[in-house]
Amino acid sequence: MKFNGRFYDLTGTVHLSTAVVFFIAVCCLFPLPFPHAASSISPGNPLQDGAIIVSPGGVFELGFFSPGSSKNRYLGIWYRNSAAAVAVWVANRESPVPNSFGSLAIAADGNLVILDGDGRNLWSTNVSLPLASTPVAALLDSGNLVLKTSDAIEWQSFEHPTDTYLPGMKVGLDLRTNVNHVFSSWQSSGDPAPGNFTMGMDPDRSTQIVIWENGDPCWRSGRWNGQTFIGVEGMVPEYIYGFRLNNFESEEEMYFYYNVFNSTQRFVLTPDGVAKQLLREDSGDLWTEIWAQPSVECEIYNRCGDYASCSDGVNNSPVCSCLKGFVPQPGGGCRRRMPLQCERNTTAGDKPDGFFLMPGVKLPDLSDWDPVSLNESQCKQSCSTNCSCKAYSFVTGIGCLVWARDLVDIHIFSTGGNDLYLRLAGEELGE
Ligand SMILES: *[C@@H]1O[C@H](CO)[C@@H](O)[C@H](O)[C@H]1NC(C)=O
Ligand SMILES: *[C@@H]1O[C@H](CO)[C@@H](O)[C@H](O)[C@H]1NC(C)=O
Ligand SMILES: *[C@@H]1O[C@H](CO)[C@@H](O)[C@H](O)[C@H]1NC(C)=O
Ligand SMILES: *[C@@H]1O[C@H](CO)[C@@H](O)[C@H](O)[C@H]1NC(C)=O
Ligand SMILES: *[C@@H]1O[C@H](CO)[C@@H](O)[C@H](O)[C@H]1NC(C)=O
Ligand SMILES: *[C@@H]1O[C@H](CO)[C@@H](O)[C@H](O)[C@H]1NC(C)=O
Repeated sequence: MKFNGRFYDLTGTVHLSTAVVFFIAVCCLFPLPFPHAASSISPGNPLQDGAIIVSPGGVFELGFFSPGSSKNRYLGIWYRNSAAAVAVWVANRESPVPNSFGSLAIAADGNLVILDGDGRNLWSTNVSLPLASTPVAALLDSGNLVLKTSDAIEWQSFEHPTDTYLPGMKVGLDLRTNVNHVFSSWQSSGDPAPGNFTMGMDPDRSTQIVIWENGDPCWRSGRWNGQTFIGVEGMVPEYIYGFRLNNFESEEEMYFYYNVFNSTQRFVLTPDGVAKQLLREDSGDLWTEIWAQPSVECEIYNRCGDYASCSDGVNNSPVCSCLKGFVPQPGGGCRRRMPLQCERNTTAGDKPDGFFLMPGVKLPDLSDWDPVSLNESQCKQSCSTNCSCKAYSFVTGIGCLVWARDLVDIHIFSTGGNDLYLRLAGEELGE
């Protein structure tokens, strides 16, 4: 509109030549002629190493690259306008092309495949496509690579994540099959093969995110309370992080998702098992780390063992203590000193069991949600009347949590945290 107004009273000739000059200027300033200007691959049009595909709005690129000092070639997706080479997805993580003669093509069966220079198949999307369909692979501005026919999306990279969690991804725990879609770290900065760490939803359906090392938990976020993860010390509400939990009661999957405004963001699981949230202002090219977990040693899963708590000491070194009423046991962790009254044969003069308040903690793992107890006194009542209940907590935004399994991974926070009520024999309580 502005241009129209400015050119309005010029003669036709001047108008035309100005427009031509303007057009030439635009052509030269912006890299309109992308080397291979497509944003999709169709049958008969493979992508050779050296060529790239650009998403329609120029946000992401797809092509072959070599990470770090590696000579191997991998098919990956990265930000187009970033000085820092950041691969957000890698296809052939475990089967690199050893030279620069690889290509990405649509095979006769319709799958997207990576071929080496001799035409050997190194990687495939490996889905069954409808017969006689003509699929096309397209890179979207979200960073998602999709293989689609006229009818449907047959395969998408967002459902096969590597180490990076991008806005718009919805991958998590399939509640029908219990199959968990997890992110997995690279081996190292020069090797995108799956490393020792994975990250995903807790299969226990506890609405927390867990990092595993070779399958064993090594960090967990704590449950989601609608705004924050209660096990992340100092986490401010979702409007900064943009996290949401899906409505898993009506969907058949449980996952977190996030959206961002005026910045580019990603989560990455590093080769050494740290989940980092990185942000780049749209006005610059600097990636800033805004969040990283685990951050202190007490955040390492169950660092002090069962029935023990971990507090941050000097230089955040861990200080382990048995919970009140528990004593160290050989082999690590602690055990209850005095059995609960509900576990014993009562004798005259026995004191009733009670609860000991531990304020400001990262609540132990392995809790069960009690949907029936709607306030703190009902929650306490529910725990008191079941001898297998070892502790309870009533948490705003979640409700009544009870623990019947071992009490593990308790971190005493310096600020924030929740109140844990630990069940003890009366003899352990008070004078
Ligand atoms: C392709 O899928 C089939 C069946 O799901 C599986 O047995 C096979 O290992 C897969 N091949 C590759 C290369 O992933
Ligand atoms: C991965 O785990 C294995 C087995 O515990 C270990 O030998 C190896 O050093 C680990 N690799 C990295 C990169 O941490
Ligand atoms: C994003 O940018 C627009 C326009 O620059 C501004 O109005 C808006 O407040 C910004 N939003 C956020 C979340 O910063
Ligand atoms: C309780 O008393 C009964 C009968 O005397 C006995 O068989 C049982 O072992 C006792 N239980 C405990 C936990 O001491
Ligand atoms: C908890 O809920 C019960 C049942 O609704 C109610 O009778 C009781 O007064 C409530 N207690 C508190 C402390 O709000
Ligand atoms: C007591 O708690 C355990 C563990 O949560 C549960 O399996 C059991 O059904 C409960 N017992 C009663 C009587 O509610």
